[in-house]
Amino acid sequence: MEDWISIGYLLSAALFIFGLKKLGHPRTAPFGNQLGALGMLVAVLTTVVSMQLAGNAQWELIIAGIVVGSLIGYWMAVKVEMTGMPELVAMFNGFGGAASALVALSEIQKYISNADLIPEGLELTVTMIAAGLSALVGWMTLTGSLLAMYKLKGGIEVFGKWIRTPTWGPSWLNPVKVLLLLSVFVMIFLSIEEPTNQNYLWGIIGVSCLLGIVLVLPIGGADMPVVVSLLNSLSGIAAAFTGFIIGNSVLIIAGSLVGASGLILTFIMCKAMNRTLLDVLFKSFGGDGEKQALTRTKVGSDPDEVAMMLDGAQKVIIVPGYGMAVSQCQHAVKEFADLMKEKFDTEIKYAIHPVAGRMPGHMNVLLAEANVPYEQLIEMDEINSEFPECDVALVIGANDTTNPAARSGEGPLAGMPIIDADAARTVVIIKRSLSVGYAGVDNDLFYMDKTMMLFGDGKAMMAGLNTAVKEI
Ligand code: TAP
Repeated sequence: MEDWISIGYLLSAALFIFGLKKLGHPRTAPFGNQLGALGMLVAVLTTVVSMQLAGNAQWELIIAGIVVGSLIGYWMAVKVEMTGMPELVAMFNGFGGAASALVALSEIQKYISNADLIPEGLELTVTMIAAGLSALVGWMTLTGSLLAMYKLKGGIEVFGKWIRTPTWGPSWLNPVKVLLLLSVFVMIFLSIEEPTNQNYLWGIIGVSCLLGIVLVLPIGGADMPVVVSLLNSLSGIAAAFTGFIIGNSVLIIAGSLVGASGLILTFIMCKAMNRTLLDVLFKSFGGDGEKQALTRTKVGSDPDEVAMMLDGAQKVIIVPGYGMAVSQCQHAVKEFADLMKEKFDTEIKYAIHPVAGRMPGHMNVLLAEANVPYEQLIEMDEINSEFPECDVALVIGANDTTNPAARSGEGPLAGMPIIDADAARTVVIIKRSLSVGYAGVDNDLFYMDKTMMLFGDGKAMMAGLNTAVKEI
């Protein structure tokens, strides 16, 4: 029977790996997701069967866990808005890290009181190291993720500015971070020397929780995507450590896959932001959390005026951003692209910034949902050279990702590569007001002579624009 258990774990690991491979392209991603879910089902069933065979399956607890977890998962899936997904992902990362650390904690308690329970081939010393590392990564991920979740929401009202204000971190907080990390390693060492002294474990947990907070607290603004993907990676690493402690190969494999893919995503995000990971963690980018005050004004245009300007445009590049997600206007955007093609034979492309929206691939997902052909979605690096010969850049709810302030060496957006929408002959921007984007920086693009502002909700404005184009 043991062979069947191993085959079950092997099958689920293979499903995870193939699922991950399929996630590499938007067309195959839904199937990749299903493969991953199937892999998880196989892993859970195999674990339950192996527990039953070992005589330690507590069915009441297992069933209660499945029922409560499924109900909460279902309720969240139904309730959460598409725009709330990043916060949900941040929370899941945190809970994943904490769950791994809790499993490691409960196992290590058993091992300390009865060394015979340690899985074959492991020693107490090794399990203590793994438990310490699992606690460090898991609890740090929990507090860091919860803080990231509130930062993504725009700060906790009770703490208000304090929690949003990142600049108080830099100079003296860095040695604190290093000291906290070192103290965890010292406590792991001491816990090996004196395994029965539980105080070290509690100390590791406490300091790790604090470390999660001080690591995430100074990071803000446009650097949040890096933090979220790093925390995602850490939740996987915590699971891998725990898999090691309980001797579960599929947990080691799945945790390593999450850890590695999260780390790859983190580096992709760092590249997109033109930062190094160490810079993000220790240099407190992201500004002071204060939104810049707006001092300038701009007269708005109306859809008829914009439609007239669009008459005969040969090339239009659409630049989607977070506002498109909020207003859910992706279908109206696709309708606009079809209309322009049909009426004026206009070439339409979409400029995709790697951190547009609030989660990796946010714009790709929304536009794929509206059946926009994948070939029209062009990455920032590739499309930027096309703006000078483009008639109109239509910016829909994008702000930071088009803000020329990023080209200067100062402020929360400093150094972040942007979509060069300002190089187009005419720029049309759809948003409700002149207000700042996520990083809180006023945007010169709005005030340029060649820019026409369409003030209003994305969906309503796109509908108005489509009607106006139809009437030409
Ligand atoms: P943002 O800079 O966040 O700006 C979005 C704009 O959309 C706002 O200025 C807002 O202006 C407008 N908007 C909101 N609701 C709207 C609606 N219903 N209709 C029309 N417009 C609406 O967007 P972006 O350019 O996509 O940049 C993303 C930012 O989020 C970056 O700073 C990025 O670093 C950060 N971030 C990204 C991620 C990931 S992984 N993508 C994760 C966390 C943070 P009005 O209020 O005037 O309408």
